[in-house]
Amino acid sequence: MQDSFTARAGDWAEVPRRIRAGLHLPEPWESQFGGLRQASPGKCLAVGQLGQSLDGRIATLSGHAQYINGAEGLAHLHRLRAVVDAVVVGAGTVRADDPQLTVRHVSGPSPARVVIDPRGSLPATARAFAADGIRRLAITREDAPPPPAGVEALRLPLTDGIFSPSAILDALAALGLRRVLIEGGAWTLSHFLSAGCLHRLHVVVAPVIMGSGIAGLTLPPIDRMNEALRVPMRAHSLGDEVLFDCDLSAHAPQQRGKPVP
Ligand SMILES: NC(=O)c1ccc[n+]([C@@H]2O[C@H](COP(=O)([O-])OP(=O)(O)OC[C@H]3O[C@@H](n4cnc5c(N)ncnc54)[C@H](OP(=O)(O)O)[C@@H]3O)[C@@H](O)[C@H]2O)c1
Repeated sequence: MQDSFTARAGDWAEVPRRIRAGLHLPEPWESQFGGLRQASPGKCLAVGQLGQSLDGRIATLSGHAQYINGAEGLAHLHRLRAVVDAVVVGAGTVRADDPQLTVRHVSGPSPARVVIDPRGSLPATARAFAADGIRRLAITREDAPPPPAGVEALRLPLTDGIFSPSAILDALAALGLRRVLIEGGAWTLSHFLSAGCLHRLHVVVAPVIMGSGIAGLTLPPIDRMNEALRVPMRAHSLGDEVLFDCDLSAHAPQQRGKPVP
């Protein structure tokens, strides 16, 4: 396990630019973020994130999640935002948390904000839509009402009520958004994982036991452990939290069917 606390704060400042330039990063950032450097031309590289409790919950049953993680876990989430071109959340997360999705806890640029809002049901006052100079997009079905002024509509077809995660990534890549953070929530992330559309998954586990709550990932039930998705992983200490950096790229074809609704 590597200790990120050995890093000097100044080491981070150049990382967002170096990642975009395809350059090697100083440690400990190369270990934590180097896997996000290789976005291929015309294609998206997608990283999912989960901030979860020791018992695998990402929110209480009422949907309260702010904040499961402490200062180091939050800083890691903001570092992820700073190195990607776009951050994607589902409409459920906007309804529950009304997140700003900006970079505030570390230095670095804020990414474009993408909300998957098939019905165009979110209010114009949602903070993800705030006019702050950052690009904002809403992924909606073709007949949904237009998004708030200044928010680009990315209209995609639905199949069985679902946007295909690969179609979402292709559409974002076509707009020049090639390194993408799927920030949540559970439903959104489970669909991207199930579709084999995540290249990496960063799980930051906080030393808290909730005992009940929303599970981070839900996939169809399996009978035997040999059917489970077992992935190459490196663990990093983030103060009293632990980052599990999972490499899903080689396993994408083995990812299974549709998530449990
Ligand atoms: N701890 C963490 O790291 C973390 C991170 C983010 C969120 N959260 C928590 O997660 C909870 C929200 O998660 P959630 O699972 O309820 O909701 P969610 O994943 O944020 O949003 C799900 C909704 O987004 C839309 N959507 C997303 N992907 C879609 C697709 N491929 N095709 C069609 N529609 C799609 C649908 O909107 P409609 O409902 O409009 O049909 C769907 O019901 C909140 O409690 C939040 O606090 C935790």
